[in-house]
Amino acid sequence: MSVFSGIPSNHFILVVCILCLGVLCGGQTEFGTAQMEKAEQAALYSAIQGFVGNWWNGSDLYPDPCGWTPIQGVSCDIFDGLWYVTDLSIGLVHDNSLECAPEVEFRPQLFELKHLKSLTFFNCFTSPRRHPVSFPSDNWEKLSGNLESLEFRSNPGLVGQVPTSFAFLTKLQSLVLLQNGLKGEIPENIGKLSNLRRLVLAGNWFTGKAPGSFGSLTELLILDLSRNSLSGPLPLAFGGLTSLLKLDLSYNQLQGKLPGEIGNLKNLTLLDLRSNRFCDGLSQSLQEMHSLEELVLSNNQFGGNLLSLDWRRLPNLVILDLSNVGLSGEIPESIVGLTKLRFLGLSNNNLTGNLSPKLASLPSVSTLYLNGNNLTGELKFPGDFYGKMGRRFGAWNNPNLCYPVSLMTTSHVPYGVNPCQEDITLADPNSMTKLGDPGNMNQNFHFVISLGFSSYDLDGLLWVFLVNTLVMVQLSNFPL
Ligand SMILES: *[C@@H]1O[C@H](CO)[C@@H](O)[C@H](O)[C@H]1NC(C)=O
Ligand SMILES: *[C@@H]1O[C@H](CO)[C@@H](O)[C@H](O)[C@H]1NC(C)=O
Ligand SMILES: *[C@@H]1O[C@H](CO)[C@@H](O)[C@H](O)[C@H]1NC(C)=O
Ligand SMILES: *[C@@H]1O[C@H](CO)[C@@H](O)[C@H](O)[C@H]1NC(C)=O
Repeated sequence: MSVFSGIPSNHFILVVCILCLGVLCGGQTEFGTAQMEKAEQAALYSAIQGFVGNWWNGSDLYPDPCGWTPIQGVSCDIFDGLWYVTDLSIGLVHDNSLECAPEVEFRPQLFELKHLKSLTFFNCFTSPRRHPVSFPSDNWEKLSGNLESLEFRSNPGLVGQVPTSFAFLTKLQSLVLLQNGLKGEIPENIGKLSNLRRLVLAGNWFTGKAPGSFGSLTELLILDLSRNSLSGPLPLAFGGLTSLLKLDLSYNQLQGKLPGEIGNLKNLTLLDLRSNRFCDGLSQSLQEMHSLEELVLSNNQFGGNLLSLDWRRLPNLVILDLSNVGLSGEIPESIVGLTKLRFLGLSNNNLTGNLSPKLASLPSVSTLYLNGNNLTGELKFPGDFYGKMGRRFGAWNNPNLCYPVSLMTTSHVPYGVNPCQEDITLADPNSMTKLGDPGNMNQNFHFVISLGFSSYDLDGLLWVFLVNTLVMVQLSNFPL
């Protein structure tokens, strides 16, 4: 029984039970009899030892890694009557995962595991200064027969460039290089991995252009290149990504006009281009993407106006964020046709004109930011709208916008908006003393905000509470 010497006794009992079960069930199954190929076993031990450190003696700790002594993060399957490793997951995923050593290294034996379908590293390469590690530049072709998923997540110590030899991994369906320390240009030949369904290269230091070659990835469902330093225009070829569901290019330095070709992405549900340098107006092709649910274009230099699009052609929109993109002109009533809209962000533009009271009738809207524009006239939303929305209705910093003074007797007024002056002077002269100086009241609102509640994230309910309290304090200061 020496083979079991490394196993705690309760595990031993379990093993015996499984053995018994195997016998009871006939004991003829492949599972009961298969061996692990010796070379495969040695390669597995050595590859893991390279990641977790020399203290780890696999043959001692896990004499039968595909059988009685499974290793957390290792899965196996049988080919021609022998066990081979199919999944290898390294790094702190669970409490008992294989944790990487400070001197982590890729050993060549990793590439002997020819049946690997999935290879994942999480939080494994963690020291970009003390111990930076680069990808091995070759050998990847040895895994080309089976590897479908290659993922490196949260490895700041994984530095250098993406090897062009990744292009040999033609079976890959998922390539995720998320939040590592990678830099340089993204290899064009990644675009040859025609089976890719998910390509995530977000949160690295990649520079240069977004590769036009990606346009030939016609099976791709998710493309995320966000949070890098990519520059240049959005390639026209991206119009070829006709299966795409999610395209996230946010937080780069991409620039220029949006190509009309993106209108071909008929299945796209998420388009996030926030915080880039796109310009030249909102492309008409945006309204061809009929499936869009989330359109986030904030913090760009688009310019132009909202009238250039027929918003009713995007009936599935739930999130529309066009904050700080240099829009001018009026807010068209066609926006009211977006019946699923929950978030509408139009803040910090140069929008003008009166607000249609119909905006309040957007049936699903829970957040509406119009602050930081040049909207004018009287806000004609029903009073309970402000109550319902709280601070998730933003209309402050529109110096020529006001709300009807009649609202001041209710507990809900839009934050940071002045009451209409004309109303006050036209009303009963006593009303001034009755309600206090409205300008003063607004300053008090600013005072509350400056106490540190100025973030957009302030909980709406808390805000409503603060505003209500303030209004009540204000009112109670004056004899009614
Ligand atoms: C693991 O331990 C065995 C004996 O317990 C020893 O023969 C073998 O060399 C060790 N392997 C490594 C890689 O340290
Ligand atoms: C778009 O989605 C529909 C419905 O899910 C699907 O039938 C169609 O094949 C998709 N189009 C492409 C180009 O993948
Ligand atoms: C808004 O428009 C006015 C008038 O066209 C212009 O002077 C001003 O610079 C614009 N402001 C912004 C922030 O674009
Ligand atoms: C806001 O609009 C008014 C006219 O409605 C105009 O006189 C004023 O210059 C505009 N302010 C800005 C900052 O664009």
